Amino acid sequence: MSKRALVTGGAGFIGSHVADLFLDNGYEVVIIDDLSNGDRENLPARATFHEMDVGSPQAAAIVEQGRFDVICHLAAQLDVRKSVADPMFDARVNVLASLNLLEAVKRSGAKTRFIFASTGGAIYGDGAPLPSPENVVKNPQSPYGIAKLSVEHYLAYFANVHQMQTVALRFANVYGPRQGLHGEAGVVAIFSKRILAGQPLMIFGDGTQTRDYVFVGDVARAHLLATTIDLPKATDIDARAFNLGTAVETDVNELARTLVASAASPVPIEHAPPRAGEQHRSVVDWSKARRVLGWEPRVAVRDGLARTYQWFSERAEGAPRDAGASASASGAGASASDRSSAAGRAESAAP
Ligand SMILES: NC(=O)c1ccc[n+]([C@@H]2O[C@H](COP(=O)([O-])OP(=O)(O)OC[C@H]3O[C@@H](n4cnc5c(N)ncnc54)[C@H](O)[C@@H]3O)[C@@H](O)[C@H]2O)c1
Repeated sequence: MSKRALVTGGAGFIGSHVADLFLDNGYEVVIIDDLSNGDRENLPARATFHEMDVGSPQAAAIVEQGRFDVICHLAAQLDVRKSVADPMFDARVNVLASLNLLEAVKRSGAKTRFIFASTGGAIYGDGAPLPSPENVVKNPQSPYGIAKLSVEHYLAYFANVHQMQTVALRFANVYGPRQGLHGEAGVVAIFSKRILAGQPLMIFGDGTQTRDYVFVGDVARAHLLATTIDLPKATDIDARAFNLGTAVETDVNELARTLVASAASPVPIEHAPPRAGEQHRSVVDWSKARRVLGWEPRVAVRDGLARTYQWFSERAEGAPRDAGASASASGAGASASDRSSAAGRAESAAP
């Protein structure tokens, strides 16, 4: 019998790549997504899709009755500025809905591995040693970061008190095909689209602010690896947490120049006043993921950016959304062929 995976947020950017990878590895995949920021075209045809809120009783029932071997929980409100404007909405989606699923796993009594999409960038904050290892003092600066950190505390509670198999993957700034404009690495999508529209790129501040850009195929692979390891005791929130990044700092000026260099017609790069409260530097130490998960980032930033720009440019020319989207970190994935553009939808299941 095949193993079963639930991917929440599977119509979104990272979740759709995770769903592809589990399908390619023989899993039966169920997706829950309310399409608030996802896209039907991202849904793999072989997955079963439930269009619903992860915070709903219906989503809890799917988890409780689903006998899942693994749940990859990626559904989230991920716009940091929106979390500042409406922290209660952010907490409802990012904290309460996560609890809804965790409680459902507890009630099910199943030995489900619960893999949570956390963040390195937003929970460490300015002032952490760089590259930041998992065990630095956490200093989230936004309701979004606070919500992610809160869920990690719940994960440790469910692991310790209810012997649940929880894992937190702390992504750096993820980029790649199918990326939307709002994520932590949304700048790659924004710049790519502006270049294709022949518009200048706007950099806030002097452009020396840095981030650690990790390719989406690499992040997807870590989810699969996280199903295979023996979990250590959850002595604290860091025990089962893994940074996923490259440990390479890329500043916005370099990012803009690299993307412009991929374009047939270059656009100018302009600067605007800095944005208040923006973190200046962020880069994570991923050596623990290598040691424990056997994971490493395989796609160098320059190659990944070229592949991402290429995907946006094919889309702008009218190619189907999934064309060339295969994010397999080895570059040899077959997932794009698993969808036809018209049938780029999963089988819809009644809630
Ligand atoms: N993109 C990054 O750089 C980055 C970095 C760190 C962490 N993360 C985390 O990774 C996860 C995936 O991010 P992404 O970049 O793929 O974003 P995304 O917006 O493309 O995917 C999130 C998906 O969740 C869905 N969703 C939102 N609220 C929902 C709800 N209440 N019920 C059901 N579905 C809901 C959206 O429709 C969307 O399809 C998020 O948890 C995010 O916080 C992303």
